[in-house]
Amino acid sequence: MQLRPLETRAAPASTIEDARFAHESEEEFAGLLDFYGVRWQYEPRTFPLRQSDDGRVVEAFSPDFYLPEFDLYIELTTLKQGLVTDKHRKLRRLRELYPDVQIKLLHRKDYLNLLAKYGIGAVNELEHMGVREVLLSATQIERRVNELGAQITRDYAGKEPLFVGVLKGVTCFMADLMRHVALPISVDFMTISSYEGDRSGAVRIVQDLTENIEGRDVLLVEDIVDTGMTLQHLVRQLRAREPASLRVCALLDKRARRLVDTPMDYVGFEIPDEFVVGYGLDYQQRFRNLPFVATLRAETLRPGAPGQ
Ligand code: IMP
Ligand code: MG
Repeated sequence: MQLRPLETRAAPASTIEDARFAHESEEEFAGLLDFYGVRWQYEPRTFPLRQSDDGRVVEAFSPDFYLPEFDLYIELTTLKQGLVTDKHRKLRRLRELYPDVQIKLLHRKDYLNLLAKYGIGAVNELEHMGVREVLLSATQIERRVNELGAQITRDYAGKEPLFVGVLKGVTCFMADLMRHVALPISVDFMTISSYEGDRSGAVRIVQDLTENIEGRDVLLVEDIVDTGMTLQHLVRQLRAREPASLRVCALLDKRARRLVDTPMDYVGFEIPDEFVVGYGLDYQQRFRNLPFVATLRAETLRPGAPGQ
């Protein structure tokens, strides 16, 4: 007789508040996943392992966690060797019966290794760096950038657009976005000065484009639009060079802080009014290499804090 997994609840628990954890280590693990913005469900399914002749399930297994983004079940192990052996046996049986199911048995020390595999480093290291919370995980960003690339590919079909990026914040986004555009594009970059708190004058182009954009279909690619003043200035400057068309694509939109409204054609994510770093964005030139977008702890943002 065919064995099938059973849904344990109509809507499995996916927040620490809702889940009734059997062990402290499970709650700790859920907290770790939350910290990194990895979505999870607690014990969403039970896998029957053995049936009696009259069809009753006599042995079953409910993995602790399911990570929908990775289609992966996680079972945490306790330290008691007897239980671990029994779990190994059940897992072998589960893998035989349900060969398509991906499941991992994790020892406590393996938690961090698992997270490192997703490219998000070890928790202690990040906390040490001053990161407070991951707002957009690497997976979320990847998925959205993929969608934007597909949309741009459709919208510019038959054209050869020129992508213009504003350094340095746009580096990660540009690198990923352009690889999801299936068109003959060109890429160029410019660097502009930003407000430095005193009489530094107006926005200056520190390093200009090398391409002539007149008559080109230009897509201005930005990391984040905050007050909108930078974008407004750039759009004005680029328009004056008479491109055939000019559109704007920004990964992040902090709409709550907008002062100057310049229309945007493509937006990755709207984010709340918080200072964010990672995926190209910096705080005093640091954090650009984080593979996700995160907020910083208050003491990290304090001017003159040690280690800046
Ligand atoms: P705006 O002129 O206020 O829209 O600012 C845009 C520029 O400010 C961006 O290109 C970033 O360089 C910087 N910026 C604004 N918000 C953030 C943030 O949350 N993290 C890092 N840089 C930011
Ligand atoms: Mg910038």
